[in-house]
Amino acid sequence: MSAKVLTTVLTFLLCLSLWGLSVDDTTLGFPYPDYELPESANDSALRELGRHLFYDPILSIDSSTSCATCHQQFSAFAHIDHTLSHGVLGRVGKRNVPALQNLAWQTSYMWDGAIEHLDMQSISPITGHDELGETMPNILHKIRSAPRYALRFLGAYNSDTISVPRILTALGHFCASLVSGKSRYDNYISGKDTFSIQEHRGLTLFRRHCSPCHTEPLFTNNEFVSNGIHVDSALMDIGRAKVSRVDKDDYTFRVPSLRNIAVTHPYMHDGRFRRLRDVLLHYSSPDKYASHADPRLRTIGVLNDGERKDIIAFLLTLTDNDFLNNARFADPTTAQPLGNK
Ligand code: HEC
Ligand code: HEC
Repeated sequence: MSAKVLTTVLTFLLCLSLWGLSVDDTTLGFPYPDYELPESANDSALRELGRHLFYDPILSIDSSTSCATCHQQFSAFAHIDHTLSHGVLGRVGKRNVPALQNLAWQTSYMWDGAIEHLDMQSISPITGHDELGETMPNILHKIRSAPRYALRFLGAYNSDTISVPRILTALGHFCASLVSGKSRYDNYISGKDTFSIQEHRGLTLFRRHCSPCHTEPLFTNNEFVSNGIHVDSALMDIGRAKVSRVDKDDYTFRVPSLRNIAVTHPYMHDGRFRRLRDVLLHYSSPDKYASHADPRLRTIGVLNDGERKDIIAFLLTLTDNDFLNNARFADPTTAQPLGNK
């Protein structure tokens, strides 16, 4: 084994041990993740505490809604029923629910990167008016009063203190454990599976046209760009510019991963496209791109019907059934992935 390969393997094993994943859980070839575990934490108990909180409607103002109401396992923790998210009391949000996967490798969160650390991310849905509509003091009070949580906090933190940072870290840690890396594509890359001729053609086209932004192996380069869609005149979402306050970021959004893309419809930050066919038609209509489209899109040109079908055939190989059905990520009260009950 060469020194370079050895270093890569050792770095990978170190990163797995950091958040308690076994080698079997993920795939070789992912870079070193950005998210790290607090030193004193007991990894699997912390992840388990986070899982219980993620599925618990106690986090919402009227005990009706949990994180998992919007982020459903069978759709890679996205939501396939509606274009914009639906929260407590019938309140409709302003963006499409994104998939939750491989978050430990992301450098910022939300479509516009408004949140920079996974352990801070949950404040936004918990206190969001259109999401769980709660306050942090209320959450703290309710969780302290729920007998089922005392032992879980003790197990996760070796101390029974229940605090807001501890609640947030547990949720962040569960989210970080949602790793998807066992699709047919991963098996193809590691030589365990083969592709059909059409899937091969799709991969070649994908690498030529889509990889600059949807870069392997995570299928995102984590940049904020415009993929040429026009702004929705009702939502007037300016994207990244809302956070950065820089004009050049107008109408740019974080490049989403395309892993599990077959099951995370509808697509784009506002859920405007229902089918992959619609997405591919968008990318192969350069004359219709918005003026703020990233220049890299220009190399795509007009894709013919066969090319669009080939790319879709390739995208379907990114579905990771192990991830979608993994009991470790499922509702702990039923141990079944939501929707498969
Ligand atoms: C009402 C539906 C809803 C609920 C409830 C909800 N989310 Fe979300 N979630 C969203 C939407 C919509 C976004 C994208 C928001 C944006 O870009 O402004 C999002 C984004 C995220 C992200 C960032 C993903 C990424 O790729 O950047 C994470 C992580 C996340 N949610 C975790 C959670 C957790 C943990 C909870 C529970 C505490 C939760 N969500 C509750 C709808 C919801
Ligand atoms: C210049 C960068 C860039 C290129 C090149 C690019 N995309 Fe994208 N893609 C994006 C961005 C940014 C978004 C999110 C846009 C939004 O929601 O406003 C996106 C969204 C998507 C989505 C929806 C994902 C979701 O979760 O909603 C799909 C599917 C997709 N792209 C497929 C492709 C395919 C297939 C190609 C090649 C034909 C491609 N993209 C080329 C930047 C790019």
